[in-house]
Amino acid sequence: MTIDPRIPDHDIHPIFLQRWSPRAFSSDAIDEATLFRLFEAARWAPSGNNSQPWRFIYATRDTEQWPLFIELLNEKNRLWASKAAALIVLVSKTTNLRKGASEPTPLRNHSLDAGAAWANFALQAEFLGWKTHAIGGFDREKAREQLRVPAGYQVELAIALGKQGDIAQLDAEFHEREKPNSRNPISSFIAEGVFHFSDEVGH
Ligand SMILES: Cc1cc2nc3c(=O)[nH]c(=O)nc-3n(C[C@H](O)[C@H](O)[C@H](O)COP(=O)(O)O)c2cc1C
Repeated sequence: MTIDPRIPDHDIHPIFLQRWSPRAFSSDAIDEATLFRLFEAARWAPSGNNSQPWRFIYATRDTEQWPLFIELLNEKNRLWASKAAALIVLVSKTTNLRKGASEPTPLRNHSLDAGAAWANFALQAEFLGWKTHAIGGFDREKAREQLRVPAGYQVELAIALGKQGDIAQLDAEFHEREKPNSRNPISSFIAEGVFHFSDEVGH
């Protein structure tokens, strides 16, 4: 008997448990209207001073730009992500021109805010029956060059998007991990009143 790795300790909306990151994608293409519904969800993420520093650069499969996006990925990620319906490179703006100011000021939360937008994107995808898989293993410098990301923006993350596919299409080395994983208990990451965690440096 296998134990379900995604049983919550407290009652939450099922979408949080349902979302996971497969590597097997089907051959389904994604239409622009659906893709834009995901960007719409990202749009409504909260951000410091409502600065909205996220920027999504995307390509869908079988377009001219597609090979360029695939080339950014490290070899292992390329093996499975090249079958996705779309690839997105998430970039964040590192400075902001505040109202009335003449010089831009650094945006302290640009990565955090881009992360919130990515989470909205991923959950909206799940709502609509699509799967996302975040990819940190890609060449950020190459992405900057190839996608013409100017100074003042940080390349954050690549995201593969598609309909979940049959595991048989996936390289054998990934089969073992092609299932939802679990999480640490809440007790490992919350503390009341003051910082006290068992993984604190020096413990
Ligand atoms: C910032 C970030 C970078 C990641 N990089 C990779 C990656 O390079 N390759 C990969 O296969 N998965 C990557 N992942 C996927 C994580 O391994 C996965 O989200 C995590 O194990 C939790 O599993 P779940 O998304 O299925 O719930 C990345 C996820 C995040 C958020």
